[in-house]
Amino acid sequence: MEQNSVARPIRCKAAVCKAAGELLEMEEVEVAPPRAHEVRIKVVCTSICHSDITRMKDGSNMFPCILGHEAVGVVESVGEHVQEVAVGDTVVPVFLAQCGECADCRSAHSNLCSALPTRPGMPRDGTTRFSLAATGEPVHNFLSVSSFAEYTVVDVAHVVRVGTAIPPEKACLLSCGVAAGICAAWKVAAVEAGSTVAVFGLGDVGLAVAQGSKMRGAARIIGVDKNPDKFEIGKKLGVTDFVHPSDIGEQAVSEVIKEMTGGAGANYCFECIECIGSVSVMEEAVKSSRMVRHAFTGLREDGGGARRGRQRGAHSIPSVVRSYLGGIKPKDDIPVLAQKCLDKELELDEFITHQMRFDEINNRALDDLQLAEGRCLRYIIRMDGGVAMEDGA
Ligand SMILES: NC(=O)c1ccc[n+]([C@@H]2O[C@H](COP(=O)([O-])OP(=O)(O)OC[C@H]3O[C@@H](n4cnc5c(N)ncnc54)[C@H](O)[C@@H]3O)[C@@H](O)[C@H]2O)c1
Ligand SMILES: [Zn+2]
Ligand SMILES: [Zn+2]
Repeated sequence: MEQNSVARPIRCKAAVCKAAGELLEMEEVEVAPPRAHEVRIKVVCTSICHSDITRMKDGSNMFPCILGHEAVGVVESVGEHVQEVAVGDTVVPVFLAQCGECADCRSAHSNLCSALPTRPGMPRDGTTRFSLAATGEPVHNFLSVSSFAEYTVVDVAHVVRVGTAIPPEKACLLSCGVAAGICAAWKVAAVEAGSTVAVFGLGDVGLAVAQGSKMRGAARIIGVDKNPDKFEIGKKLGVTDFVHPSDIGEQAVSEVIKEMTGGAGANYCFECIECIGSVSVMEEAVKSSRMVRHAFTGLREDGGGARRGRQRGAHSIPSVVRSYLGGIKPKDDIPVLAQKCLDKELELDEFITHQMRFDEINNRALDDLQLAEGRCLRYIIRMDGGVAMEDGA
């Protein structure tokens, strides 16, 4: 495969997070050429995931850093040993690696690549390809993606080639939240047709769970959210019934769900509020679960494989299954989701509630996301306003 000649550093704009809790600062950064097994990507679109906001405020993060992990872009140059993609390919970078060779990548039961586990810095050597152009100070990368920059360098194990047929504002949604939610229902829980599903939290992830459940033929999808504004958009994505925790008096949410289901409870419950799973919401979700058939799926970011409940004769107790990125193996599953999108089997338009230019990232998007109590689903940021400067050009 014909690849690039020797790549040079690129200077471009990036939104840099300099300290926990501070707004991002638009800076000129230098992006080093890709090393072996790496590709440099011109970012076309990026979107903001709840996890970016969480990490922005997290003092244990490494600063300065470039956040952003939902994106789509075009390969600008490649390092040695990169055969899988070529310059000009449209790719989706993903925070989860798929080396394709380790025991976990070969297993049908895990999506946590053990050869390239999530770690700070570039996956193979822990270093960074970013520095501030003015001072040369290194800028850390984030979740192996760092898409709040006009150019980024990503390990080839973290990129998925997608065609150009899928519009970029939809392709970038397949990197994290929407894909995680859809596949939690589609792949991890494998929701059965005709079943009842309860979704706790109707943000981007929860609404994607609702859509994934609808695609699997769920008969009833009960949405629980403290923000009643979510109910309208929920209806469009398959939610059939709503529970607003403030409107049920002294009753617990689980009691209301039991009543709604004739005392039986839901077949599947999904916790989609907190990234490590809210204990109190998980308890309510377990109590809302039907005591026959496997029943409960929690969406957590802290672990891998699934745990099934103990079988008791013909019945089983509710089982808690942890789902990391919806059990997705990025290189296998994201192209399938992209095709479903092209076939109109998967509708992503409703997830795009806001769009803006890259240089508006601070004064609009982050404030809105933090203050709107989940009113915003996905902000799409188009990078095409920026002009990258070739070093020495
Ligand atoms: N496991 C994964 O692979 C994965 C992937 C992406 C995101 N996440 C995590 O999933 C979580 C949800 O992400 P999102 O983008 O949908 O967030 P979001 O902020 O868009 O949605 C959260 C929703 O929960 C509602 N909510 C909050 N507290 C509530 C409560 N006590 N009771 C009822 N409703 C409540 C909010 O009103 C909002 O609608 C985040 O914490 C994110 O970090 C996990
Ligand atoms: Zn995310
Ligand atoms: Zn692997």
